[in-house]
Amino acid sequence: MCGIIGYSGDKNAVDRVYSGLKRLEYRGYDSWGIACIDEDGLHIAKDVGKIDGIPDELSNTETHLAISHTRWATHGGVSKENAHPHVSCDGSIAVVHNGIIENYDELKTDLEKKGHKFKSDCDTEVIAHLIEEHSKSKGFPEAVRAAAKQLKGSYAMLAINKNANELVGAKKESPLVLGLNGGEYFLASDVPAFLEYTNKTVPIDDGEMVVIGSKPVVKKISTGEEVGKPMDTIKWKLNQAEKGDYTHFTLKEIHEQPLVLKETLRQNKEKLEQVARMVNSAPRVCIVGAGTSRHASLVGRYVIAELTKKYCEVYMASEFQYFVEKLGKDTLIIAVSQSGETADVLLPVKQAKEHGCKVVSIVNVVGSSLDRVSDVSLYLNTGPEIGVAATKTFTSQVTMFYLIAYTMIYQFEAGLKKLMSIPEMIEETISLNEEKTKKIAEYMKKRDDTYFIARGENFAVATEGALKMKELSYIHAEGMPAGELKHGTLALIEEGTPIIAICPKDHTYEETMANVHEAKARGAYVIGISDENSNMFDEWLKIPKIDYIFYPLLANIPCQLLAYYTAVAKGRPVDTPRNLAKSVTVK
Ligand code: G6P
Repeated sequence: MCGIIGYSGDKNAVDRVYSGLKRLEYRGYDSWGIACIDEDGLHIAKDVGKIDGIPDELSNTETHLAISHTRWATHGGVSKENAHPHVSCDGSIAVVHNGIIENYDELKTDLEKKGHKFKSDCDTEVIAHLIEEHSKSKGFPEAVRAAAKQLKGSYAMLAINKNANELVGAKKESPLVLGLNGGEYFLASDVPAFLEYTNKTVPIDDGEMVVIGSKPVVKKISTGEEVGKPMDTIKWKLNQAEKGDYTHFTLKEIHEQPLVLKETLRQNKEKLEQVARMVNSAPRVCIVGAGTSRHASLVGRYVIAELTKKYCEVYMASEFQYFVEKLGKDTLIIAVSQSGETADVLLPVKQAKEHGCKVVSIVNVVGSSLDRVSDVSLYLNTGPEIGVAATKTFTSQVTMFYLIAYTMIYQFEAGLKKLMSIPEMIEETISLNEEKTKKIAEYMKKRDDTYFIARGENFAVATEGALKMKELSYIHAEGMPAGELKHGTLALIEEGTPIIAICPKDHTYEETMANVHEAKARGAYVIGISDENSNMFDEWLKIPKIDYIFYPLLANIPCQLLAYYTAVAKGRPVDTPRNLAKSVTVK
């Protein structure tokens, strides 16, 4: 998964794509590259690592046409040769691409027979050579279209040609959005890439291409026929995509949660009622998500079961494809995804639709691919989340499940009223725990392993807490139901092993504490997250008392802070952890 941005307009194109690339780094950052065209022809700069300033070789170019790329390697190792843009043999055509070209080997062999010489191991390079091949008989945009028709797999790609004055993009199963600002045009993987210049966008659909000459034209790749597309105005504000006074986006996003939650609670009642009717009437409900979104789904399953008595299944998105064929019209899918672009979610959901399933999505990015394939979408309204590790969107996703559950039992207003008190309690939870977690981080940073345990609706908070610890600090962490500790993991507990026990005083308290005893007896260093202190705890992270069903919304906050401050104590690049990307658009 990678980020791409291209620009065509009257301003300096390298400046524009550079600022866009910095904002797209959450999508990958193991190498970067920019190609631009000026009077002297095509110029390329690329390297491994993160881009840090406008590259010297492009700093004096008078250019109005550029494409660029920030990479998260899939095909080919991390090297300058494999970094995008990739160029045709004659050096006239440059291409950047997000996705995977599945018929790369076949295309490469064929192109080599025709005399093309490849310089990298990257699948994207075939696109540049294919366009070059078709350019022998076609104009540039038509050559791109002909090349796109031959590609199997997924792509959002941008191409420029030193002999043409057009920026051309094409899309299949990877995100691409057009941004318009008067005479300036952007084609990018995501809106934050150009949000400082415009919030006017046109989402590009699968099977479409965009040709930007004097103005943009959207066409079908299959026929070349023009497609009229409505323009959207994105509500996100630029300051939502800036760090402000915070050292990291992740910390900003943790602190933003009280505010963000109020936005999530601003839902259209009729739409929620429509979703509630769909869930109530569906014989089978499958909730699907990846990473943090799956953990939020696990909380959702408990909340729906507890409040409505309806049982829903939760699937790990990457495994869902193996069940899809067995599903039919009687199944409702609730697909949960911050980005709405995660391939593991999107692809099986599309297959499920083909099998007659209805799809409700819970997404943050309006106009994302998941949003557009869904029968109904509920929007999180959290604004852009930039930190690679999801924080505020977890809280919003969980909140959405409460709203759905209360609406299912015709208690939308009552539920909303209860939820309205949560932002203030999250605020309190943050201030209760910020200094304490900073201190405990000094202990955590010396440990290699840690275990998060909980029961009932808080079990998923344990798995989410462990995920945050792994992603941010690189400490090995596992989250599990407290009752499972004795079925294996107890063998790993040694003197001083940190156990984070999420044990608010609810119906699961006594049993969870029994498991805490078992761990403590083997030398565990117990960090308790609870509304009550206990002599079993070596450290107590206090959360306010609340109706038990809402504990997950509060108990997760100290876990986020602990992971954050442990990562800071270990000197980790908190917003952009190694090897990870925010939105994974490959399988
Ligand atoms: C990646 C990210 C995770 C995220 C997951 C699902 O793995 O690193 O933070 O939870 O994708 O993303 P989604 O956009 O579908 O919620």
